[in-house]
Amino acid sequence: MSATSTALRPDEDRKLFDDTKLGVKGLYDSGVSKLPSFLTHARKSSADGVDLAIPTVDLGAVVGGGGGGGGGGDLRRRVVEGVRSACEGWGLFQVVNHGIPEGVLEEMIGGVRGFHESESRRDWYSRDKRRKVMYFSNFTLFNIAAADWRDTLICEMAPSPPEPQELPELCRDIVIEFSKRVHDLGFTLLELLSEALDLKPNHLKDMHCGEGLLLLCQYYPPCPEPEQAMACNTHNDGDFLTILLQDQLGGLQFRHEDQWVNVLPQKGALLVNIGDLMQLISNDKFKSASHRVLAKAAGPRVSIASFFRTNFGIEQATKLYGPIEELVSEENPPLYRETTAPGYLSSYHAKVCQENRLDAISPLASFRL
Ligand code: OGA
Ligand code: NI
Repeated sequence: MSATSTALRPDEDRKLFDDTKLGVKGLYDSGVSKLPSFLTHARKSSADGVDLAIPTVDLGAVVGGGGGGGGGGDLRRRVVEGVRSACEGWGLFQVVNHGIPEGVLEEMIGGVRGFHESESRRDWYSRDKRRKVMYFSNFTLFNIAAADWRDTLICEMAPSPPEPQELPELCRDIVIEFSKRVHDLGFTLLELLSEALDLKPNHLKDMHCGEGLLLLCQYYPPCPEPEQAMACNTHNDGDFLTILLQDQLGGLQFRHEDQWVNVLPQKGALLVNIGDLMQLISNDKFKSASHRVLAKAAGPRVSIASFFRTNFGIEQATKLYGPIEELVSEENPPLYRETTAPGYLSSYHAKVCQENRLDAISPLASFRL
């Protein structure tokens, strides 16, 4: 065998895997006991995380219905204070009493699980960036050294949602319902974040930080060699804000003060984390935290990450994002140069492809002045 064909082999394995259109769930179903090499990670650090209490913000006082909804006053100020200290100190917080009924959350997890466990998921398999709805395993499968033990259904739900029939029937209704509710919650959070930055409540919304909504519906089957795999490798989110819904299995960790902290699932709660672009426009006031998901022998695990980003349509796509004027002064000079949201993302992906991995990369660093 020539050197060239040996070098090609790993890519051939990836291609064969990709051609099944059944994701790592298909590998699991076929009964593999050993991971293929392209899914094998050399784990550098210990996987053990510490159990610290993640900041929790009770949104009861600021979302619809019960007492003082949307009103001003002390209650709201306290919520804003909680959001500010969490975004400055952690870059993430949990929300409770957020207004999305637990039944909706459960149905969403069930719908996504149903999709990933259906034979018909093959029909949705694609890597065509122009599609609003598609299913794949590892978007960067052919560009990274080691891929993740996960499959993803993505649905671009705003600003222009797909026609209902463009969504998989198995989760269509609940994806539409969940999206509306999570989008509303995102706008509430953007108001609170604006206030936490001492800006007018509409500031971040008016900057179009929540106009685009992308759902990443993740499925992590039980893993035959969890020590050798990563369910979701270390990364930062390249958006403004993410709201994460996860089931009860656990495995998610965030980086905080040089430690990996376990995010213990809490029924009914949602996790909110700051993305790179929010760190950039807040001029480092709010922190985008690195995170990862460990693979487990138990499962499956299901999670839905709702990414708030700008409208990627022509007009908004050329909008430049830099540190917000009101947040910079002589004592606080801008720390970043301006970029467009798509420009930021393509630099993010270029870095991944160039360095052949996702971890230990800070795409934000290349925008630092
Ligand atoms: C993501 C992510 C975490 C999870 O999709 O960006 O970090 O728990 N997901 O699946
Ligand atoms: Ni993430």
